[in-house]
Amino acid sequence: MILKPADWVRMDFLAVFLFLIGISSVGSVNRHDFKTCDQSAFCKKHRAITENTGYQLLSNTAVKYSSSEFRAQIQNSQNKLDLRIFGIEDSTWRIQIDEPEGALRKRYVPELALNGIPKATNFKSVEIESDKTTITAGDGKQKMIIQYSPFVINVYNVFGDLVLQVNRDGKLKFEEFRKKEEGKEYPEGFWEETFKSNTDTKPHGSSDVGADISFIGYRHAFGLPEHADAFSLRTTKGTTDPFRLFNLDVFEYELHNTMALYVSIPYIVAHNANSTTGMLWLNSAETWVDTSSSESSKSLFAKVGSFLSSSGDSIPHYDAHFMSESGLVDIFVFTGPTPQDVQRQNAKLTGTTPLPPLFALAYHQCRWNYNDEKDVAEVNANFDKYDIPMDVIWLDIEHTDGKKYFTWDPNRFGTAKDMINNVASTGRKMVTIIDPHIKKDDNYYVYKNAKDKGLFVKRADGVTDYEGHCWPGASEYLDFYHPETRSYWKSLFSFDSYQQSTKDLFTWNDMNEPSVFSGPEITMHRDSIHYGGIEHREVHNMYGMMYTSASFDGLMARTDGQDRPFILSRAGFVGTQRTAAIWTGDNAAQWGHLEITPPMTLSLSIAGVPFIGSDVGGFFGNPDEQLLVRWYEAGAFIPFFRAHAHIDTRRREPWLFSEATRLQIRDAIRRRYALLPYWYTLFYEHTQDGSPPMRPIWYEFPKEEKLYAEHNAFMLGNAILVRPVLTADTYSVSIDLPQGAKWYDWETGAAKPSGTIYADAKLGSIPVYQRGGTIVPTWQRIRRASSLMKDDPYTLFVALDENGSASGEVYADDGTTHEYQKGQYLVTKFQYKPEKSNKFVFIGEPSEGGKYPTKNWIERIEVRGVKQVPQHIEIIRASDPTEKLEFTYDRDLQKLVIRKPAVSTGQSFQINLQF
Ligand code: GLC
Repeated sequence: MILKPADWVRMDFLAVFLFLIGISSVGSVNRHDFKTCDQSAFCKKHRAITENTGYQLLSNTAVKYSSSEFRAQIQNSQNKLDLRIFGIEDSTWRIQIDEPEGALRKRYVPELALNGIPKATNFKSVEIESDKTTITAGDGKQKMIIQYSPFVINVYNVFGDLVLQVNRDGKLKFEEFRKKEEGKEYPEGFWEETFKSNTDTKPHGSSDVGADISFIGYRHAFGLPEHADAFSLRTTKGTTDPFRLFNLDVFEYELHNTMALYVSIPYIVAHNANSTTGMLWLNSAETWVDTSSSESSKSLFAKVGSFLSSSGDSIPHYDAHFMSESGLVDIFVFTGPTPQDVQRQNAKLTGTTPLPPLFALAYHQCRWNYNDEKDVAEVNANFDKYDIPMDVIWLDIEHTDGKKYFTWDPNRFGTAKDMINNVASTGRKMVTIIDPHIKKDDNYYVYKNAKDKGLFVKRADGVTDYEGHCWPGASEYLDFYHPETRSYWKSLFSFDSYQQSTKDLFTWNDMNEPSVFSGPEITMHRDSIHYGGIEHREVHNMYGMMYTSASFDGLMARTDGQDRPFILSRAGFVGTQRTAAIWTGDNAAQWGHLEITPPMTLSLSIAGVPFIGSDVGGFFGNPDEQLLVRWYEAGAFIPFFRAHAHIDTRRREPWLFSEATRLQIRDAIRRRYALLPYWYTLFYEHTQDGSPPMRPIWYEFPKEEKLYAEHNAFMLGNAILVRPVLTADTYSVSIDLPQGAKWYDWETGAAKPSGTIYADAKLGSIPVYQRGGTIVPTWQRIRRASSLMKDDPYTLFVALDENGSASGEVYADDGTTHEYQKGQYLVTKFQYKPEKSNKFVFIGEPSEGGKYPTKNWIERIEVRGVKQVPQHIEIIRASDPTEKLEFTYDRDLQKLVIRKPAVSTGQSFQINLQF
């Protein structure tokens, strides 16, 4: 097939054209490029189910169980299926429904997405009755009742509350692999399906699966990233297309809809005032999720739900009908019961983000493209000239020699190694882009080697290499399911192989949905073939994750595991967090795109992907100064903080604007650097228990029902509440400061009442609050890059709660290597508390185990909420004599500043405050 440029070049050429004729290049999505549920045979079929599909558990055939696995069969008029239920550690269940032994073909289970094999837990009891089986696990409080007819699985949490049901609506449906029988009638699209000009062949027929999952007692549910939509999941049933999970490169995506984007994580967490329940649908094929939030009479649950703790006659429930094109019904249920429990349970199963190198948490400067080495040097120098901190300069696709990744344009980046070293000599790093499409060019070593070794994805015939168009034109796509591809890819990152690379150069993996400009829906044909005969449709959503994990192995190997990798990815799946940060792709320089950033990043965060952000400033189009400043202000409080812009946009480095704007951007970035010790500590805490650095209000204030849907404001850790300004010409905002805590203005330290307040938010300022009872470590000596600040002294902000107490911690290590895994780290715990009626103590205690010889010391402690002026303050250190400390007290603000305790965070100390 010969492709005319108009057929395959992603819409960017239109943007270029419009730009040339002076029209803003920001448009809107071409919806016709992407399927609706109605245009997808399996989605249409499953969505249309209205009657119970009639599955029953066969109680007379052998129901078997072992110490942690229960097996039975279920059957309806269509087929007989195997049911397997596993008890998993930490109050988690796994429910699998598969074809029985002897199926035509093995179904794909994306085990690679998990963090190893799930750890089984022993059943405590299995009670088999004529109409149901009751299983308990763990300490016996984890309970499940399997009802035989109609087949429904009921899951209870430790409070005995029914929290989740599988097949409550009877939508379970399972299409088996078949051999085509001539003359037989098959449902529409069963053996092939055409969308626009592409025909998808299905040599094994349709193998779609679907099931409904109900979160009982819940009105609000969250997750299912990635969609440019509200944080609290909407009802799609009867109103709009279901949420679509199919990794796609959507050009100029629209806001507030359920269309697919670059990431697919089939995970939902539901929350109410009593409990939190999570659920993962482990399936890497295209998935649609039809949702509804409704209420039903309590009597409907009478048979199984007599334990419901909620009052009233009706029960709210959030229903999610999952429909996947292939794979298994494979459900993990996390029974909580707290938000923290669910987050940890999911993290145990799917992994956490390893501690990022410190620079990765700082500010990143990117655009498509920095033109040449001189440009890079100037940008780098200007950040210093204007005294704006910055850690990383990024190079987009134009840095390569003809879009051949791992190469450099000889004219513009001929001495790349010197460039990287020069940037590194200022304490900074660089990132280059490396995409998975490989330019079809026999003179390109990566192409040639991969071709010779047979490492490319194959066409439907399973023999010839799959070809498509992407940035370089004709390209082939590496098959990351092939073990040899993975080891070859890994070798490409070695310093010997990747010419001019150094350990200060890191990686951006883009276009990994994968994006195929010439493919159906701008992606790979579903019938193309991966290693082992896997059809692309079975693993599509996981391709990007397989890719970044191979790159991660490469970055690990190049320093023999010494340095921490950093990778940014656009596509993602369950488990992506183990190897990459994610950004929300090609947004636009529009207020709506700034506004959608918190809900999009919160959804990812709560689904287990903590290192996330959006292009600051907006990718397409030119932001005005107000929008740009607001974006920097918000971005500084979002985990991944990078400015980026499309090639056709005007340059937007901070010094290209008015002085006021430049200074406001500088302030925003400096706020980020001041909080780096806190960010670093939060990412350390994430590695311990999966807790997300950026989190919704309900995660910290689970009973504040009116804030469940809040997504303009969010928390960083347990201490800081941020409410960025997200709309134009807005200079004051209303904020709900959750009840049950004291609050303090982050900048001034002034106490604030809980409840609704109006905050001044003139350009250049951002409403941020510290919660009473917390201690936040900061660096106040802002320098050009984080590497120059990492040994700096801390200023601690101590915000007192009702009882005059507070606690917190700070994590430190070398910021770069994996030595922390061998004990080269330090966690110092802080506590402020009353000791006698007129005496308070502030205690610092390095935790046992860590032995990093820190250079950090404490230069200032600001205590907020101190009711009276102390008479005397002294410090007792292990090593030195007791010493009197200087302090100042602000009566109006009730703020005490203890000056120069000059104590290392590596030693224990106690400060006595005598009132
Ligand atoms: C994609 C990326 C964008 C990048 C561009 C060129 O559109 O999302 O960030 O600048 O490709 O590589």
